Amino acid sequence: MNNKPRNILVTSALPYANGPIHIGHLVEYIQTDIWVRFQKMRGHQCIYVCADDAHGTPIMLRARQEGIEPEQLIARVAKEHRADFAAFQVGFDNYHSTHSAENQWFSNTIYERNRDAGHIAKRTITQAYDPVEQMFLPDRFIKGTCPKCGAEDQYGDNCEVCGASYSPAELKNPVSAVSGATPEQRESDHYFFKLADFETLLRTWTRSGHLQTEVANKLDEWFETGLQEWDISRDAPYFGFEIPDHPGKYFYVWLDAPIGYMASFKHLCDNTDGLEFDHFWAPDSDAELYHFIGKDIIYFHTLFWPAMLHGAGYRTPNAIFTHGFLTVDGAKMSKSRGTFIKARTYLDHLNPEYLRYYFAAKLGAGVDDIDLNLEDFTQRVNSDLVGKVVNIASRCAGFISKRFDGKLSEAILEQALFDDFAQAGDRIAEHYEKREFSRAVREIMALADRANQYIDEMKPWVVAKQAGEEQALQAICSMGINLFRVLIGYLRPILPATADAAEKFLQIEPLTWDALATPINRHTIGKFKPLMTRVEPKQVESMLEHSKEDLAAQSAAAETKPATDSALAKEPIGETIQFDDFAKLDLRIARIVKAEHVDGADKLLQLTLDLDGETRNVFAGIKSAYAPEDLEGKLTVMVANLAPRKMRFGVSEGMVLAAGPGGKELFILNPDEGALPGMRVK
Ligand code: MSP
Ligand code: ZN
Repeated sequence: MNNKPRNILVTSALPYANGPIHIGHLVEYIQTDIWVRFQKMRGHQCIYVCADDAHGTPIMLRARQEGIEPEQLIARVAKEHRADFAAFQVGFDNYHSTHSAENQWFSNTIYERNRDAGHIAKRTITQAYDPVEQMFLPDRFIKGTCPKCGAEDQYGDNCEVCGASYSPAELKNPVSAVSGATPEQRESDHYFFKLADFETLLRTWTRSGHLQTEVANKLDEWFETGLQEWDISRDAPYFGFEIPDHPGKYFYVWLDAPIGYMASFKHLCDNTDGLEFDHFWAPDSDAELYHFIGKDIIYFHTLFWPAMLHGAGYRTPNAIFTHGFLTVDGAKMSKSRGTFIKARTYLDHLNPEYLRYYFAAKLGAGVDDIDLNLEDFTQRVNSDLVGKVVNIASRCAGFISKRFDGKLSEAILEQALFDDFAQAGDRIAEHYEKREFSRAVREIMALADRANQYIDEMKPWVVAKQAGEEQALQAICSMGINLFRVLIGYLRPILPATADAAEKFLQIEPLTWDALATPINRHTIGKFKPLMTRVEPKQVESMLEHSKEDLAAQSAAAETKPATDSALAKEPIGETIQFDDFAKLDLRIARIVKAEHVDGADKLLQLTLDLDGETRNVFAGIKSAYAPEDLEGKLTVMVANLAPRKMRFGVSEGMVLAAGPGGKELFILNPDEGALPGMRVK
């Protein structure tokens, strides 16, 4: 086995600090973590760093909208991100933030070195400016009518209806999504990174085995269109780092984001004896550097990043590993179908190792999207992990404990079979190394089938009843346990928690790849406890329902606070409706006769409404503003003819109208006492 010790530094893309981790993100963190755990098991030094991506306009506006400082927002989100990753066993060696001293130092240094080498240009540009908020508006924060097809309420850079791309200046009737004001055009000095200076380097680099072929081909298209100068500055107000020689100008978030990889690693070096930053980042470094990313951020990682590094005298990465996007049941993750599943919601219902296994079983080295088919997920976890792998141990361990005091036999019974298992290790390792996890899984499951077949043939349960066959029984079951141990070893990068539990049961040290080829004989094992339970379809259903409930609560709050999702402070008036549409609304006075907490819901209250004799059950997302006892007896206005909607807690038969900025300040419409329940409002 060619397995010389290597020094490897690995990163995953840095998640934005303004939203929760969802299962789409997890494709990447799980993929990277499996690869890293595999390298560690092989005895290599493999260091995995990541951080929160904490800067930029959306984070600034989000904090403002919540009435807190950006620092408070990113601290809160960092805590949530860390907890989610830990629960999914994503084992970072360091998790840092781009809003850190280290990152500021490296950002300044990389900028200054590039500037001194002549790679930064200054130009004056004209840009949309919000006169109310007194800020320049990123394209995403301008909305208006598409210049091509006339669709209303489209973003400043492209139309979701006809797919056209344009500049915000072309948008008709533009409005600021922050204040609703009409943007002005204003001039401002900007700083640009001259990407074209690096064209020769990049053309070679992108064709020298650092990228997957599909990605390199994509890059050819970009070379063909020509490498544009990259705008790396933003005007105040901005949450980021001020550019050293230009007060009031800030580094664009995407400049300091990848530098966050270095900053996180530096932070680790500063806290670890013997770990040298330069060993990994000097231009002549013999350490390996890999970045795992999703296909939406290729441009930043394959062009800007190597160019910036090179321009500043640092090494470039050995490879960028790009993966595809996650779909659920064949479609984009959808909030209304409940398939936009947050990491936390998943964890409330299912074992994280199931998802790690499923993703591994689907992941290859390419950039294809991967689909989480929930039926297949249930079936596959149950049949492979519970039905095949864990089953081997449960079929053998009982006899070993009860009849032999936990002691395994002197020697392996079927040396040839064991050797087959051991020899598969090289092939499986190669699959892991190449990120062909689905192939590794297929090989491992084929071995699991053989182990089960072996037990089926040897029938320990029959042997157990035969007099004088004690030794044979012990040998068969010991063989089974040894095969199980090898399988768990091969699965260990994918199932770290299960492997850990199995190692405790087997009473062995954490498995290394090399140790797998040697069986454990004359060894005492512990008592077997089921290592994993089956996925129950109702757990999956319940997870989907909860994902819808998260959404219901969000949209209930968003009735008055439309910005929750898009991090906008104020939402411009939406699509116009015709009078007929309005006339369809049956708005009625209702008396809240009962208001109750809903078990397990953070934002909802359950209201019983009286409409002059007719009673309605309505769930309303107003718990942040009202205690149930404050509501009982009050009058309010409701949409009485809204189609009933099934929610996790029951059916909601209408909607209560409320207004306010959100949180504690959310006011139900409260007509004066002269109104009568059941009365029409219009
Ligand atoms: N902050 C940037 C990355 C900066 S790296 C210097 C960013 N953040 S992100 O939170 O939007 O995404 C983080 C990673 O998760 C990206 O690699 C992205 O491609 C990946 N994914 C986000 N949604 C995904 C899916 N639905 N499916 C698979 N991967 C996805 O981009
Ligand atoms: Zn259009």
